[in-house]
Amino acid sequence: MSSERLQKILARAGYGSRRGAEALITAGRVTVNGSSVTELGTKADAESDTITVDGTALTVAKQHVHIALHKPAGAVTTVSDPQGRMTVMSLLPKNLPPHVIPIGRLDKDTAGLLLFTNDGEFAHRIAHPRYEIEKEYHALVAGVPSPEDLAAIRSGVDIGGHMTAPAKIDVARPPAGHFERPGDTWIQLVIHEGRKRQVRLMCAAINHDVRILVRTRIGGVSITGLPLMKTRPLTTLEVTELRRAVDL
Ligand code: URA
Repeated sequence: MSSERLQKILARAGYGSRRGAEALITAGRVTVNGSSVTELGTKADAESDTITVDGTALTVAKQHVHIALHKPAGAVTTVSDPQGRMTVMSLLPKNLPPHVIPIGRLDKDTAGLLLFTNDGEFAHRIAHPRYEIEKEYHALVAGVPSPEDLAAIRSGVDIGGHMTAPAKIDVARPPAGHFERPGDTWIQLVIHEGRKRQVRLMCAAINHDVRILVRTRIGGVSITGLPLMKTRPLTTLEVTELRRAVDL
């Protein structure tokens, strides 16, 4: 967090309006890092400075952000890439608070919905299979899977020694921006595990390799209406529902 006016920090921490907070400062009831502050122009950093009011330290609720990105194929899900490739972080707005991280990951060649937050616990839980948050993908697979192939994915397939949990799968229309391809098949797959290359491995297990992969939904958050490469903040309702789903 960067420096901001003390009265703004106090107001956000629940010490009345900004006007009310100014009165506390001019009355000499506020200290920053042990020194009394009475100047109204004083700035402080709510996260790194120790601020007290009447001797009680402030606990400032960190401002959490939650962002959805429509990741393009080709961007790498990493905070910084030594090889200089396009990272998902470079597609985020520039004025974000620090420590905003991707929730889980998408392969470089996978497009679609990727969420970001600076709430570490939230990020951990959304990605953790224990909370069974649904992740929906649309995949163009090679050839035409048989009903038996789809049934195998529904009950679980072996991906390198791990049996996948029961999943939902059906033949589907192409997602926005994609088209049918003769001889290949678009499927919609819903899983709640997040193993590395899971969807690609599941489709390979039934001998229908993935040609194009797009994540289209995470829990109640859909990619519909979010253009490629663009971001949007999650709505309050989306955040509330996701938090409830992970017991926060
Ligand atoms: N499954 C995959 O195979 N790749 C992804 O990027 C996400 C899920």
